[in-house]
Amino acid sequence: MRKRLIAGNWKMNMHWNEAMTLISELVQKESEGNWRNADVTIIPPSIYLRSAFEFLKNSGSKIELGAQNVAATENGAFTGEVSASMVHQIGTSLVLVGHSERREYFAENDEALVNKIRCVLDQNLTPLFCCGEHLDHRNSGNHESTILHQLESVVFEFTADEVSNMIIAYEPIWAIGTGETASPQQAQEMHAFIRTSIQKKFGNEVSNKLRILYGGSMNPENAAELLAQPDVDGGLIGGASIDANKFQAIIEA
Ligand code: 13P
Repeated sequence: MRKRLIAGNWKMNMHWNEAMTLISELVQKESEGNWRNADVTIIPPSIYLRSAFEFLKNSGSKIELGAQNVAATENGAFTGEVSASMVHQIGTSLVLVGHSERREYFAENDEALVNKIRCVLDQNLTPLFCCGEHLDHRNSGNHESTILHQLESVVFEFTADEVSNMIIAYEPIWAIGTGETASPQQAQEMHAFIRTSIQKKFGNEVSNKLRILYGGSMNPENAAELLAQPDVDGGLIGGASIDANKFQAIIEA
């Protein structure tokens, strides 16, 4: 069985004190609550990763760490970039690749995403590959072909072995930060479509093992129903992940 993963993408939010307070609140809730059914990963801004790692390690927490982004090359003269090996060395286990905000605001194309995943895999880190369609693609009935194209141009560049070390997030762009979520039926339909596409290309073993997370305005009110869908293996949470009570409610949903 696939274990549920609840991942909190903090995006570019919170100052230092707020970030450290949130981590300590989460550790407290982890010790009091029932988090057995889910793996939990937090994905703070990179500059907080090392302190987060030390705090989590010293408190015996099982919460894991992810990075929101890494460079598409391993090292060199790339001012401002952070490499996969750097985030690996400071205790990160997962890296987001292909988030719609990175694609849109930082012009990340498929070639860059392939290179990033290559760097992430080379460090034995888990790539969490994000895909999702714009509202006009959904309204025109092209949501499945959009997602298939995103899978084909990035994930299909890798081997079955490599893909078995990946996680995929389905994040419809129209649902991100809008308060509007995909219905549980829409989410299930798309997750099943993604799993079938992976199955056709890489076989049953890879597709059965693959965790596919839903992202887009997931909150304590809608989480249980979304997470109850057979192909929804967890959530990639934005806004609700920077509120300890809400994030805990989703973990325990
Ligand atoms: P929201 O939960 O704020 O809609 O963000 C989702 C997301 O983009 C997670 O990566």
